[in-house]
Amino acid sequence: MLHEQLKPFPAHFLWGAASAAYQIEGAWNEDGKGPSVWDVFTKIPGKTFKGSNGEVAVDHYHRYKEDVALMAQMGLKAYRFSVSWPRIFPQGRGEVNEAGLQFYERLIDELLAFGIEPILTLYHWDVPQALMDEYGAWESRKIIEDFDNYCITLYKRFGGKVKYWVSLNEQNYNTNHAFITGMHPPGVQDRRRFFDANHIAFLANAKAIASFRQYVPDGQIGPSFAYSPAYPASSSPKDMLAFENAEELTNHWWLDVYCWGQYPESALTYLKEKGWAPIIEDGDYELLAAGTPDFMGMNYYQSLTYEFNPVDGVETGEMNTTGQKGSNADTGIPGLYKTTANPNLETTNWDWAIDPTGLRIGLRRMMSRYGLPVMITENGLGEFDKLEADGTIHDGYRIAYLRSHLEQCQQAITDGVDLLGYCPWSFTDVLSWLNGYQKRYGFVYVDRDETDPKELKRIPKDSFYWYRDVIQSNGEEL
Ligand code: NOJ
Repeated sequence: MLHEQLKPFPAHFLWGAASAAYQIEGAWNEDGKGPSVWDVFTKIPGKTFKGSNGEVAVDHYHRYKEDVALMAQMGLKAYRFSVSWPRIFPQGRGEVNEAGLQFYERLIDELLAFGIEPILTLYHWDVPQALMDEYGAWESRKIIEDFDNYCITLYKRFGGKVKYWVSLNEQNYNTNHAFITGMHPPGVQDRRRFFDANHIAFLANAKAIASFRQYVPDGQIGPSFAYSPAYPASSSPKDMLAFENAEELTNHWWLDVYCWGQYPESALTYLKEKGWAPIIEDGDYELLAAGTPDFMGMNYYQSLTYEFNPVDGVETGEMNTTGQKGSNADTGIPGLYKTTANPNLETTNWDWAIDPTGLRIGLRRMMSRYGLPVMITENGLGEFDKLEADGTIHDGYRIAYLRSHLEQCQQAITDGVDLLGYCPWSFTDVLSWLNGYQKRYGFVYVDRDETDPKELKRIPKDSFYWYRDVIQSNGEEL
């Protein structure tokens, strides 16, 4: 649809920015925090770029006041952060670590003092190592109760202050890497275990949402999904079918369960034939249906294009563990589909397709199929930024990226999408899970590299001032 006149961004639009505990906090073993699986996995030689890990990250744990002051200077209306589960329960369950709760309380109070709406993510991949050791974390149903207890602890403590909550962050991307490519802990390559772990994560997500209704009746909650809308490589029926299969197995497989409590039928039939279907017990569907979200969080970076993959075709596309490139997780299933480059789209230095229109397409598909409000919980450009001799960072490419995506948000709003907010990734530069600090996303540069942590000085980039003006004009001046 071509719109003659665009609708403005809503009056209370949540102009935000996002982060995750492991990628910014550091203080990995301070004030009673237990180790997460990432604290252990990153110490295995060869797992990350030059052995980078989150021991210090950008030291947000000690510098949160300085970071919030910068958010206020930028005029941020909302800030999405995650709570580190092992900071609250060092052993994953059992005794709660009061010092951990107090850190997030201070952070939340600081945000509220500046009128910044906290958006709290309950789980951004840093599961307590103790639960991995004890029962294999997401591979055991025991985690459902432990996760619920952890969430209830946060609901009780922060439910009166925090209105927006994200349950699981990118369950799809994280489990793809944890159980298919083996690049995230526990480093497994087994599709059967992948689908089982996902089923357990769906149940844990639903139970935590069901509890949320009881403890935070006025709040809103939803998972953040790594959403790459699927495109067909051509209009040949073979590619069209490959695209449909990919949409079913890479998107609907998660979204249908989150929003409807059901798996897409054709995908389930296929998985049963392959022996990959998850074990579904009595009562599971009831629980899934009891824990549907208020909104869908969408992490959008790129669309993905699919073509037919012959039966003797590739298992997964090219992957690179620790170097610069290597983005997509599950890129192919022989007999069904594989990803292919889209000749119509430019790519970033990490080979991610740049596709602002894909964001509008994704938002519309989400609206048409599920009818829920959407919050863009991540969107951004990872690049090599250059700190100039005069202490400035000219990231015009990031401004262009964000501007073009915001333009498509406005188109989608005009199409009728109920868009709650936009939280670009990331506020400051952060540690990449596998890539160290070379790939930067932030509005605020953090002066550090792998070999020399420097002083971790914060320096606003050009995009910081641009976004400040966007927020001030409520998106009228992009
Ligand atoms: C999504 C993840 O949630 C985040 O942790 C990560 O750093 C970004 N993608 C960029 O890759």
